[in-house]
Amino acid sequence: DLCKGINGLEKIVLREARGCSAEVYLYGGHVTSWKNDHGEELLFVSNKAIFKPPKAIRGGIPICFPQFSNFGPLEQHGFARNKFWSIDTDPPPFPTNSTSKAFVDLILKPSDEDSKIWPHSYEFRLRVALGPGGDLMLTSRIRNTNTDGKPFSFTFAYHTYFSVSDISEVRVEGLETLDYLDNLKERERFTEQGDAITFESEVDKIYLSTPTKIAILDHEKKRTFVLRKDGLPDAVVWNPWDRKAKAMADFGDDEYKHMLCVEAAAIEKPITLKPGEEWKGRLELSAVPSSYCSGQ
Ligand code: BG6
Repeated sequence: DLCKGINGLEKIVLREARGCSAEVYLYGGHVTSWKNDHGEELLFVSNKAIFKPPKAIRGGIPICFPQFSNFGPLEQHGFARNKFWSIDTDPPPFPTNSTSKAFVDLILKPSDEDSKIWPHSYEFRLRVALGPGGDLMLTSRIRNTNTDGKPFSFTFAYHTYFSVSDISEVRVEGLETLDYLDNLKERERFTEQGDAITFESEVDKIYLSTPTKIAILDHEKKRTFVLRKDGLPDAVVWNPWDRKAKAMADFGDDEYKHMLCVEAAAIEKPITLKPGEEWKGRLELSAVPSSYCSGQ
């Protein structure tokens, strides 16, 4: 269903037979809601989010493309998150194992204006699907359609904001012992020492060469988010904590307690595509009761 969302911006609502749902705004190709079969919201969106171009929506799943953060000359996190995407009415077949009927295909292509900022021609196809069990699946396919024979390179992230009950009760598993770049220390490289990752102050780290599965355990909610990813070797972990929260106009002062970003990404080694080549990056999210996960 295509309908009007906040400020009249168009969104698509996906519903799965058991009652799970998701919402995707054409603005940013941005997932802003993912609910389980009890109607509980699983993603965090700030109460102060500004649903108005050119500001990207604070929360949900912003798409960072063609540049993560300020790792290059473009605006922070690139431009895909504040462009209007279109519905792709005739997508080429997706080689996925998904049996989902609840999905939408979006496409982003550069306008003439965009080409002045990033002088490349591309087709960015995004499929957002709800699996039969309520899993949320995002598949990005980016193709170099340059006719001048030139390759291009990009970095990428699914900047996912998870909703958590209390950040101090949350742990992330799957990143221990890995190397990371610390954004708070001029991107110096460190090795994670802890057993699992817990939170007691601001965190902004890019974990490198991470496993395909990462878990976020929310002790209080007795819920575990499981991220499965493909084509996305890195993982960013971000929580602004109190001081940075106050500095963000579109983020409540105390909201940092109820969110955590774990972002499946390709950052350390940019992706390079020659004309005609396509890259695929896939993220699958599930939310399961913690007891189900223990011992796994
Ligand atoms: C994270 C970055 O991915 O996004 C942080 O690692 C950044 O450094 C955060 O502060 C939010 O970025 P923005 O542009 O959405 O405010």
